[in-house]
Amino acid sequence: MQPTYDIHQSYDANYAAGPRFDLPLPEPRIGKPTATFLGHRVTTPFGVPAGPLLNSDWIRLYARLGFDLLVYKTVRSAAQPCHPLPNCLYLDLDRPLTEADQGGAVAALADQATIPPHLSITNSFGMPSRPPAEWQADLAQAIDAVGEGQVVVASVVGSAATGDLVADFGRVVAMAAEVHPHAIEINLSCPNVAAGEGVLFHDPEQAGRVAWRAWSEAGSIPLVIKIGYLADPARLEAVMAACGPFIQGVAAINTIPMAVHDRTGHPALGPGRPTSGVCGEAIRDLALKQVRRLVAVRTRLGMEWSILGVGGITTPADIDTFLAAGADGAMAATGAMWNPLLAQQWWALHHEGIGEKGRKDRG
Ligand SMILES: Cc1cc2nc3c(=O)[nH]c(=O)nc-3n(C[C@H](O)[C@H](O)[C@H](O)COP(=O)(O)O)c2cc1C
Repeated sequence: MQPTYDIHQSYDANYAAGPRFDLPLPEPRIGKPTATFLGHRVTTPFGVPAGPLLNSDWIRLYARLGFDLLVYKTVRSAAQPCHPLPNCLYLDLDRPLTEADQGGAVAALADQATIPPHLSITNSFGMPSRPPAEWQADLAQAIDAVGEGQVVVASVVGSAATGDLVADFGRVVAMAAEVHPHAIEINLSCPNVAAGEGVLFHDPEQAGRVAWRAWSEAGSIPLVIKIGYLADPARLEAVMAACGPFIQGVAAINTIPMAVHDRTGHPALGPGRPTSGVCGEAIRDLALKQVRRLVAVRTRLGMEWSILGVGGITTPADIDTFLAAGADGAMAATGAMWNPLLAQQWWALHHEGIGEKGRKDRG
């Protein structure tokens, strides 16, 4: 199946013309919202994390495809262009990453025209953003586009270039809150940007300050933090202890930063971008490990935030594995881009014969 995002085209081209999808849309599901997500009733606790859903056109399609937790790609308090092409590359990686791989090197596949059997990619966009007035109007359309039992989460990030990262997190949260999404996610963890924006989740004190500032601007809208993989369980606990009083959820994990090179050993994304985030199949084990650690941390801290498992989910069985590990919700980025039927396949597995089609088949 071709991915909905054309990795050979620019981000702006995908924003304007995407998503690419030419299969028949599934019949509407028959079923009442049975799960809860940050205080909202949802049909299923499965969706797409920040990234693949570039704007309301993308949210509308994925909502129709049965993804119920829909995160609007990270936006900023001022416009910012995207990194140049390439933004996504297939990797020569057919084994799960371990903690020892973090910060290590990995090769991009020489053949970028063929989807590899083990789907792991690197992505590097630099968190581009449309101007606030534009994304606010479009976010409102995205919220209108989803059905009963579906939620739109606005992902936001503060910009270090403003000179006051914490204040800018507050500013962009306030902008998102004006549009009343079902929840707001603050991204503390992008490996593809310079300066402090991307590594906040390593620093409990600074992460706590940002969470407090976001909470003070979000009003009654539930807040989620997006974090990356933390190898040190004590640090993970310190981050959650600092942010916990201000949030209703934690989404983990973001991509794993690695040096990505081509066959000649040169940076595959160009000289200015020696490292970038790895996602897809290869990070599933680390993501699951972090979900299990978060479950234990939540119990130890006696806190109640929800855990949204992200990382390497590419099959219906993976969704069940994450939920069985204690995640309250699960989300697929790479998996949903290369298989937009993933939510439908998972639904069919658990509801065979009770959808509209099953009813018709029974006569
Ligand atoms: C194309 C693409 C763009 C992404 N952009 C963002 C982003 O803007 N903000 C963010 O918090 N995470 C972003 N991510 C990271 C994903 O939300 C997710 O944490 C990561 O890809 C791991 O999940 P996966 O293995 O299912 O891809 C992006 C991922 C992909 C594949």
